Amino acid sequence: MKTLIKNISNLYSPQSSGNFGDLIHLCNASVLLEDGLISSVNPADTQRQEANMDKVIDASGLTLLPGFVDAHTHPVFRHTRESEFIMRIQGKSYEEIAAAGGGIRHSSRSFQKAGKSEIKTLTEKRLQTFIEYGTTTIEAKSGYGLSLQSELKALEIIAELNQEQPLEMVPTFLGAHEVPDDYRNKREAYIELIIDEMLPRIAEQNLARYCDVFCEKGVFSIDESRRILQAAAAHGLAARLHADELYPFGGAELAAEMKAHAADHLVNVSKSGIRAMAASQVIPVLLPATTFFLKKDVYAPAREMLAAGCQLAVATDFNPGSSMTQNMQFIWTIAALKLALMPNELVWATTYIPAKSLRLHDKIGSIEKGKQADLILLDIANIETLPYHMAINHIVMTIKKGEIVYQRTQM
Ligand code: NIG
Ligand code: FE
Repeated sequence: MKTLIKNISNLYSPQSSGNFGDLIHLCNASVLLEDGLISSVNPADTQRQEANMDKVIDASGLTLLPGFVDAHTHPVFRHTRESEFIMRIQGKSYEEIAAAGGGIRHSSRSFQKAGKSEIKTLTEKRLQTFIEYGTTTIEAKSGYGLSLQSELKALEIIAELNQEQPLEMVPTFLGAHEVPDDYRNKREAYIELIIDEMLPRIAEQNLARYCDVFCEKGVFSIDESRRILQAAAAHGLAARLHADELYPFGGAELAAEMKAHAADHLVNVSKSGIRAMAASQVIPVLLPATTFFLKKDVYAPAREMLAAGCQLAVATDFNPGSSMTQNMQFIWTIAALKLALMPNELVWATTYIPAKSLRLHDKIGSIEKGKQADLILLDIANIETLPYHMAINHIVMTIKKGEIVYQRTQM
């Protein structure tokens, strides 16, 4: 299968050899796709080549970017939680709602009762929305099961949908998302369940590439998180971590100690935590839509992390409690205004760096010869317009492995 995308008004991409923020910007460009890969950027003699193509896409007036890579999502859930959103409008905090038995435990109660096919159908629809908004790869966490059977159910859904629909998912085991209802008075038994039963089964069935822990005051302590991540590492699962979101807690330092590929949230990260992440090349994955959705005023110190030498990713944190959006373009707007990230930095933070945090940057995350043809066409004249013309969908076409997987009906 050969496809030519021609007359691309503007093409922007990070380069594997480039520095964070430095983009190539080509005008009136063309890209040749062959068998799911990018075989050439600006091939010679496009006019003659056209005759040999299976498909020619005219991209005049449009901008081409690498497909978005969303490095932090929780897409496998059953019910939505708009009732908690209403409580927050009325002034209750996320922590108060969770302490009263809502939050993740609320989601888990309903998840445990549902059959796999019901949740799979719901999840598949949510994945389609990612594609419509220009995301071509996500990291997808379990974490609403909180029992052996239900965590397996979540990870099996991810594995099956990875085969059956085009959005690529990197599976993360998040059994340590919360201590479930029946273990509130025996949390040690839940940690043992994770370490002795869940992790071995998940590793044996090859259902996860990463292990994550909600390391936070009132959820899992630093010591508990370390034990879980060490056990995961022994089974070959690398670490990602929910770190320093609600309180300064030492999560970033732990992520550095564990050589985690990513430390996420980091709203309350300490200065030593930032230094530790930079030294250990932990990638901060910032989730500003969560801060916004939880009605908090203080955002992660993105510029301090950049100044310390970190490379940043930003992600949606798509989940029913603290960030109910799959729209990475909206994340651009919040990240621009609240994290002071510039459009050229946001290209990196939503493509190449999240791919790197998943150790997939040799394959995806930039428009370069030999890379997978994961591309998006947008109806914008330049990347400055993307965060500026906010909260609408600019995607005209999403291409995954060289195939058109979404196309706006009115071009
Ligand atoms: O990343 N912090 C923990 N996990 C999610 C929230 C999940 C939920 O509330 O359902 C997050 O914000
Ligand atoms: Fe999360």
